[in-house]
Amino acid sequence: MPSMATGDRRNFTPNSNGNNNLPQFGPKLLNSDQKSDFFARRQKIEQQRRSLPIASVEKRLIDEVRKNDTLIIVGETGSGKTTQLPQYLYNGGFCHDGGTIGITQPRRVAAVTVAKRVAEECGVELGQKVGYSIRFEDMTSISTRIKYMTDGLLLREALLDPYLSRYSVIVVDEAHERTVQTDVLLGLLKDVQKKRSQKTCSESNNNGVVKEENNVVKPHLVRKLNPLKLIVMSASLDAKGFSEYFGGAKAVHVQGRQFPVDILYTAQPETDCLDAALVTIFQIHLEEGPGDILVFLSGQEEIESIEGLVRENLKKIPESNQKLLILPLFSSLPSEKQLKVFTPAPNGFRKVILATNIAETSVTIPGIKYVIDPGLVKVRSYSPDSGIESLIVVKTSKAQALQRSGRAGREGPGKCFRLYPESRFEGLEDSTIPEIKRCNLSNVILQLSALGVDDIIGFDFMEKPDRMAVIRSLELLYLLGALTDEKKLSDPIGQQMARLPLEPNDSKALILASQFDCLEEMLIVVSMLSVESIFYAPRDKLEESRTVIKSFSSPDGDHITLLNVYRASLEFLEKNKTENGKEKAEKNLRKWCKDNFINSRSLKHARDIYNQIRENVERMGLKIGSCGDDLLPLRRCLAASYFLNAALKQPDGTYRVLANGQIAEIHPTSVLRRTKAECIIFYNLVQTTRNYVRNVTRIDYLWLAELAPQCYALKD
Ligand code: CDP
Ligand code: MG
Repeated sequence: MPSMATGDRRNFTPNSNGNNNLPQFGPKLLNSDQKSDFFARRQKIEQQRRSLPIASVEKRLIDEVRKNDTLIIVGETGSGKTTQLPQYLYNGGFCHDGGTIGITQPRRVAAVTVAKRVAEECGVELGQKVGYSIRFEDMTSISTRIKYMTDGLLLREALLDPYLSRYSVIVVDEAHERTVQTDVLLGLLKDVQKKRSQKTCSESNNNGVVKEENNVVKPHLVRKLNPLKLIVMSASLDAKGFSEYFGGAKAVHVQGRQFPVDILYTAQPETDCLDAALVTIFQIHLEEGPGDILVFLSGQEEIESIEGLVRENLKKIPESNQKLLILPLFSSLPSEKQLKVFTPAPNGFRKVILATNIAETSVTIPGIKYVIDPGLVKVRSYSPDSGIESLIVVKTSKAQALQRSGRAGREGPGKCFRLYPESRFEGLEDSTIPEIKRCNLSNVILQLSALGVDDIIGFDFMEKPDRMAVIRSLELLYLLGALTDEKKLSDPIGQQMARLPLEPNDSKALILASQFDCLEEMLIVVSMLSVESIFYAPRDKLEESRTVIKSFSSPDGDHITLLNVYRASLEFLEKNKTENGKEKAEKNLRKWCKDNFINSRSLKHARDIYNQIRENVERMGLKIGSCGDDLLPLRRCLAASYFLNAALKQPDGTYRVLANGQIAEIHPTSVLRRTKAECIIFYNLVQTTRNYVRNVTRIDYLWLAELAPQCYALKD
């Protein structure tokens, strides 16, 4: 651990071109002196809105949307696309027919924070005129007209409402990110647009009333279907691809505003990015003028560990220099904490925001003058050969690096510290590969099948997925029993799996658990696996935390350990509730978490997810039984569901994944790390410098032949 006091620092060399050649600026945003008075705040918001680059083209945008059914809008991050356009559309009368404006985001955080901001800008309560809806959280009502949501959620809505009839306009935001959900959505929306224009004609002799399939007319659906307006928004300057895909759709460019940003590189490649980021944060804090710092990190774990390190080191510097406000920003952070990044720092303080890739284009944080970019990003990666999807940390593309540095020049000249040498920048890919080219497609296939699209290869994708990846993903769905020989959804398994908002493996685990009489336990396990890092171990308390965490651990593995944590927390909460009341009990639970080195945010998130999926499986009529303290059925059920993720111990202590022969080690955080079970199933495979399997449970290899005969057979 470098000590700031010893003066460890990085030498950065300036970009060889000096300043990058970004266009010069227009008027500066208002000084953000926070005024507590409500009216002052409103006035300020109004002024901010008017000063956004997009404000000058409001009229033109509305005209173009009126004239074109499909429109591409391209504009630099921060120009006001996400927050302003929906309001312009609303004021421009696009909801007059009772329809809603839906805006999709690839990320949950963006949907939530932007909805809150827009509700404030409109002066309305969140969930009324302006709302959001993300998986496991719905903040909308019958009066919602501007609805932010994740692209995945809109896909799910299409299952119940194939015409997306409640929407008059759909805005697909952040399309340049090209997540797999965005790509599927674009193809689907193209089709919905076509169907809607046909529907309008055929329905006109039916009083224009559209009925749902079961003939129940929902109040918000009682209206004539107008053609669907579709707007695709992107921060990348290349609109051509989108325009061509939509048959030569018109593209409008919103002129951005960007101050020069000095790009600095390290002289040497960094071996420990966290350490380099830490040193650079303090270097900026102690040596540079006022302005907030934005650090790009690859995930919650990295963010939380660096958060701890900054706090520790802050104590070591003179008190007068300690005015640094550390704010994490990642998806599973509770939303009130997420919003803190938008509040200006108190006088004399500097904010340092530790964010995932979300801050690259999805959300614009005011006040940033310094960007620290380690040049890495966590992405999904799928190899058709192995059939296993993993999360890997890879180098960003040039386009991403430019977006990141651009964040420093929104309100004035800024600096971007790239934690790699300039020579590495030159070697980066120009742009990021669309996710559909590098992910497991079984979920997409399941969703499309449920929408009646059986031929995935023939589906109108902007970019076709790899044939081999499609075949492997289809194979997986067959093995899980979700598809019939005719590539149709099987009844009931496939139908049920498509209805659950989970990955196919997890859905299958829940369905099977109902038969194994351990659905209660499996619901907990799946919820706990849906959140990142339940345990956290501060570096200075490593030993202590290990001992405490051990008290939850099960010799059978991590799944049951997670179950133990959840059960223990419920027990604590129940006992406390009767003694102290609900609110106090929740507060005490946070303290309990802290004492037990449990991440209370993650646990809370897991509880929310549990409640939601439980509701889902109840509605589906699955029997929710419990296996109590005999957890053998749970382990057998895990083997029956995650059978493709089974691995056998090798003589050298590593594990060989049975499905593909890949060699991996058990992750150091696993409770089975030392015990070395003979046969295991794992939940994820993480590739860093080595292959690690995480969330591991001990199984009997004989179960595989018994419970997954479609995949395994005993030799003799
Ligand atoms: O979508 P685009 O990147 O074009 O911009 P935007 O997200 O609409 O942001 C427009 C402005 O609103 C930026 O200056 C943000 O800093 C500000 N904003 C904010 O202050 N608080 C939020 N929660 C969201 C945006
Ligand atoms: Mg945006």
